[in-house]
Amino acid sequence: SSLHALIERLPKAELHLHLEGSLEPELMFELARRNGIEIPFATVEDIHKAYDFSSLQDFLDIYYVGMNVLITQADFHDLTMAYLARVHEDNVRHVEVFFDPQGHTDRGIAFATVVNGITSALDAAEEKWGITSKLILCFLRHLSEEAAFETLEMAAEHLDRIDGVGLDSSELGHPPSKFRQVFAAAGTLGLMRVAHAGEEGPPEYIHEALDMLEIDRLDHGNRALEDGTLVARLGREQMTMTVCPLSNLRLCVIDRLEDHPLKTMLSLGLRATINSDDPAYFGGYINENFRRTADAIGLTEAEIIELAKNSFRGSFLEPAEIEAHL
Ligand code: ADE
Ligand code: ZN
Repeated sequence: SSLHALIERLPKAELHLHLEGSLEPELMFELARRNGIEIPFATVEDIHKAYDFSSLQDFLDIYYVGMNVLITQADFHDLTMAYLARVHEDNVRHVEVFFDPQGHTDRGIAFATVVNGITSALDAAEEKWGITSKLILCFLRHLSEEAAFETLEMAAEHLDRIDGVGLDSSELGHPPSKFRQVFAAAGTLGLMRVAHAGEEGPPEYIHEALDMLEIDRLDHGNRALEDGTLVARLGREQMTMTVCPLSNLRLCVIDRLEDHPLKTMLSLGLRATINSDDPAYFGGYINENFRRTADAIGLTEAEIIELAKNSFRGSFLEPAEIEAHL
């Protein structure tokens, strides 16, 4: 359709993408073989069957197993390059990607191995395709704040390549308030701050992310819609929300894509964006998220253009760089 053609042609930024969540089954098998790592799947078919999730935790349990095949700097390079090559086809011009260092350092992989592999691919993609990027280190919220501090310390000598910190993993039972001090320390280091909140967790977690973590951007934020005061504040502050429709569907945040609140968010004046979260696990990169959401909830041409513009407005590019993309 003409809306699909519009989606494909619009320049876009992706602001909510976990690099480890872009590990496609084929590359997982290749790295397992290359590194002599056992994985609990024999075929791509097995993997697709296992990717039938009932909740965020159900997904995370498999996601942390998948990333065990990532061992060498070349592995992190290849993972990152495969993602960038794929979204180059979707006309993505800028990315702000997450990585989960604790998922690797806790297995004995050096922090530098992870960062150097990722950044060499980010550099190569800019050289090759002109895709610009920012890198965001996420703290795993099911671990302690002390462990987050240890990770921030490891990041200290790589701050020329790390632009921000985020908060991800199991949301329920791990409120943003648990990470107040480490986010304050990250702010002092000049890092941008984002956090997953309101994906499964209550509106109170979004209030905490705003007030205690002083976030610059909100990842997901779906459950803000339950709290009128919060909606008003997010609109007033023009807080960017990185919404992930196919993720929401696959993690049972919504029952049907037709029920997705994205259109409501836009009509309430919220600065929503469309993102893929963990595309290898949720069955679609950014354009597929746009197309399926547009079809399911009837996004208009104007709404699609607004969403694409919001992706640059909500980025951590400089104002003049943002302007050049609008
Ligand atoms: N880690 C990877 N994807 C995630 C998500 N959607 N929510 C929380 N943690 C994650
Ligand atoms: Zn996420």
